[in-house]
Amino acid sequence: METFPYLSCMPPPNLTLHPIGTVATPYSSKYSAPRQPATARKKCIGVIKLNPGSNFEQALEDLDGFEYVWILYWFDRNTTWKPKVLPPTEQRIKRGVFATRSPHRPNPLGLSLCKLIDVRGRTIRIEDPDMLDGTPVLDIKPYLPHAEAFLEARAGWIASSHERSGQRRAVAISADARVALEQIPESTRLQIESYLVGVLGQDPFPHAYRRIKQQPDGSYVIAVRRWRFHYSVSATGVSITRMTRSIANAREGVSAGQRSGRQK
Ligand SMILES: C[S@@+](CC[C@H](N)C(=O)[O-])C[C@H]1O[C@@H](n2cnc3c(N)ncnc32)[C@H](O)[C@@H]1O
Repeated sequence: METFPYLSCMPPPNLTLHPIGTVATPYSSKYSAPRQPATARKKCIGVIKLNPGSNFEQALEDLDGFEYVWILYWFDRNTTWKPKVLPPTEQRIKRGVFATRSPHRPNPLGLSLCKLIDVRGRTIRIEDPDMLDGTPVLDIKPYLPHAEAFLEARAGWIASSHERSGQRRAVAISADARVALEQIPESTRLQIESYLVGVLGQDPFPHAYRRIKQQPDGSYVIAVRRWRFHYSVSATGVSITRMTRSIANAREGVSAGQRSGRQK
């Protein structure tokens, strides 16, 4: 893993980019955001606000005739990149970062194709953003279906992966686990549920980037902050059977329910 500036042995690039605005989305954590706009599980709206004082109102004229727009932006919450990354698919194979859409890139540029809702002044509303809240936006361009849609194009390693086929497992939460979850303050609980449905629905098995352990009986446990979620996996679904606290908390002899008042 390298840290910026990554080109320390070369002259610094003579390149300065200035964000044109930021995008507001419901996603504060990387795990809650969809991998791509088209794979969003819950429909939502993103609001791009362009900066005042640069005639961006004029720059946006005529955009509203397009159904989709490309948003270029900066993955501002990343500070590192890796030449090889492990995509979040059931295949456990590292891929060259340029053959992926990973945010961990030498120039952390994001590119999202989003449905355009409307343009008002310097505000653009889009459907199903995959950016985190507050992400700096660098450019906006119309999507040109006649030039940019190649439905039969080869899709490399991703063609055989779960993500490409869109197959996901349904994630069910048992009544017991639900009762325990309800003890967690609502905003945290919603984030955790969204993370569980997102991660386990896509790939419920142990992975280098996730804290999942298989148990002797074949079931699994995933650690999310200080909570542990026990679940089983079938071909089509994931069933979360119960929630416990981490071992450290269990040693204190305190159950999730008893501590609910102090949880953040
Ligand atoms: C797989 S990337 C794809 C982004 C874009 N559609 C692309 O292909 O370049 C989407 C993920 O990037 C992460 N992400 C979004 N905004 C980010 C930001 N500002 N900084 C760091 N990571 C971000 C989130 O975890 C999101 O699920």
